[in-house]
Amino acid sequence: MTLVLPFAEAPQNLAWGDTLSYPTTRTMRLYTHRIFNRYPARSINLVPRQLLHAYKQKNGPGRVLDPFLGSGTTAIEGLLAGFQTFGVEIDPFARLVAEVSTTPFTKSELVELRQYFSEIALSWPSTPVDEKLRPKLANIDYWFSEENFEHLLRLKHAIHQVCPSGPALNFFLIVLADVIRPCSRAERQTLKPYISKKFTKTPAPVGATFEKSFENYFTALSEFSEEMAGKAANFTWVGNDAVQFSTEKSVDLAITSPPYLNSIDYTRCIKIESAWLDCADDKVIKQVKNGQVGDESRKGKGVEIPVFIKPYLDELEALDQRRAGIAAHYFDDMRRNLQCVFDALRPGGCYHLIIGNSIMRGLEIPTHELTAKLGQEMGFEWSDYFRYKLKDHRLSIPRQNNTTGGKIEHEHVITLLKPIL
Ligand SMILES: C[S@@+](CC[C@H](N)C(=O)[O-])C[C@H]1O[C@@H](n2cnc3c(N)ncnc32)[C@H](O)[C@@H]1O
Repeated sequence: MTLVLPFAEAPQNLAWGDTLSYPTTRTMRLYTHRIFNRYPARSINLVPRQLLHAYKQKNGPGRVLDPFLGSGTTAIEGLLAGFQTFGVEIDPFARLVAEVSTTPFTKSELVELRQYFSEIALSWPSTPVDEKLRPKLANIDYWFSEENFEHLLRLKHAIHQVCPSGPALNFFLIVLADVIRPCSRAERQTLKPYISKKFTKTPAPVGATFEKSFENYFTALSEFSEEMAGKAANFTWVGNDAVQFSTEKSVDLAITSPPYLNSIDYTRCIKIESAWLDCADDKVIKQVKNGQVGDESRKGKGVEIPVFIKPYLDELEALDQRRAGIAAHYFDDMRRNLQCVFDALRPGGCYHLIIGNSIMRGLEIPTHELTAKLGQEMGFEWSDYFRYKLKDHRLSIPRQNNTTGGKIEHEHVITLLKPIL
């Protein structure tokens, strides 16, 4: 069955296995979801929105956790719906995007922000280059024309000179992050930075791009702040590793979209922006990458494989030993994540996971079913399941080559209930 869900309305009488179709978000108010919406593998905000509204209709607002928070989609929706929100995320750049997107400003702070903008816009062309602010990434110059590189350094210095540290500086740093890709030589459309030899891109001018990005993000932040005025809800970090964290108080529900089994390299996709914002240098990028669930550096040595996963991994091993090792570690990481969330949830609380299937070496691995079974092994009940059609492949993960698999058509949402004993 295909349901078309109206905005913000929880689905009624959903049957197990229904296929949903979400309305397009193009004409909706997207609040701070617009902030750095190029974050790789960003979730469709209507999924957490729908789950949160379904919870709220029954119980009122509660406490929601996202252990793979990324750029903060669940947290933004949670705050808008009046929930206390909690997150875990390993990537420093994603953490900064999430912080900016979940921090409302008062009216007078918004006025100040505009004043800072005027000062920066006026002063950056004559602000000296500060070599200490150079991004610490090998071959960073490769991505820029000499002129734009220098302009970006001046702009970054002006931002640091004008803004006091805290939310205002963070906001302008994320505006700077938005300026980086268009002003670089890298293609606009690809997730991983790449310079086309065939089509020479003309990098956008720094000043005009900064102005445009500021206006766009300022509107997003103003809409969000207006909606949040008078709400007591706020956002708190509870860790940075989804496979080892704990919460002080229990949460009512968790909603997440974990990395795919044959995951993209998030850190590489955003390495240029990350380096410009001093969120990462070459060493940090490597460390973060190695900590990413699904990353190829995590191999399966010494990992215990449950019997229901083993046949898939055996089949995969016959085709590709390396990938079988990565998959083994992925399921072990997910088991550890499920345990952390199980411990964080109150009895009767639910963990909703948005998961795409993976095709590795032509072999389809039903990741959502295997993850649900892992949950069942540790005491969760698999209480609900629906899926939805992926419409916008731009923001999801390209998997059209033969080694990683075909195009993913659906994402699955599994609901795991922590029973009341
Ligand atoms: C599919 S993305 C989540 C996207 C998010 N829902 C959004 O809308 O932006 C998965 C996220 O998990 C993060 N991640 C991967 N391994 C992690 C780990 N061990 N601990 C915490 N976060 C991790 C990645 O950095 C990435 O941001």
